[in-house]
Amino acid sequence: MDLKALIRDIPDFPKPGIMFRDITTLLRDSQGLTHVIDRLTHQCHSLDHKPDYIVGIESRGFIFAPALAYQLGAGFIPVRKKGKLPAQVHSIEYDLEYGTDTLEVHQDAVQEGARVMIVDDVIATGGTAKATSELLTRIGCDVVSFGFVVELRGLNGRSLLPDVPMVTLVEYD
Ligand code: PRP
Ligand code: MG
Repeated sequence: MDLKALIRDIPDFPKPGIMFRDITTLLRDSQGLTHVIDRLTHQCHSLDHKPDYIVGIESRGFIFAPALAYQLGAGFIPVRKKGKLPAQVHSIEYDLEYGTDTLEVHQDAVQEGARVMIVDDVIATGGTAKATSELLTRIGCDVVSFGFVVELRGLNGRSLLPDVPMVTLVEYD
């Protein structure tokens, strides 16, 4: 299935000069959605390390991570934006194009040494995934892989990430 054909390109969003890859048109297509989850699952099965947990990054990572966790028989852990998680958290600030943002995870989210896969809808600069990886390492996780539906290759976000397997389904230059 041609997933790219189901992703809608919106020019000049959120700013002039940016081509936004809109996955809502893929998500609403029942066959497209099934195909995305099945392919992520299949690629994960071919990796060496089965994760104990799939970590999803708020917001759009939450669309895919729990479905993948279900398929793999893993648990799901949310990494959330500042101030949303109720128990004690670790926080990490990371750079956006303009300014900074903060991601948080519960300090007791996993047992020491748990194997986790980090999942998001898209990797662009890699800043979000890198920050999440550092956060999880801080609470004692072993980050064994990454998964993204879309990779914006031109930004070379993967160069910021630890050298572990990365699953991606659709690439743009
Ligand atoms: C988007 C996207 C990724 C991130 C990728 O999230 O969902 O999480 O940007 O960019 P990066 O690789 O340059 O860090 P965004 O922060 O826009 O918020 P959302 O998921 O809540 O829509
Ligand atoms: Mg996001």
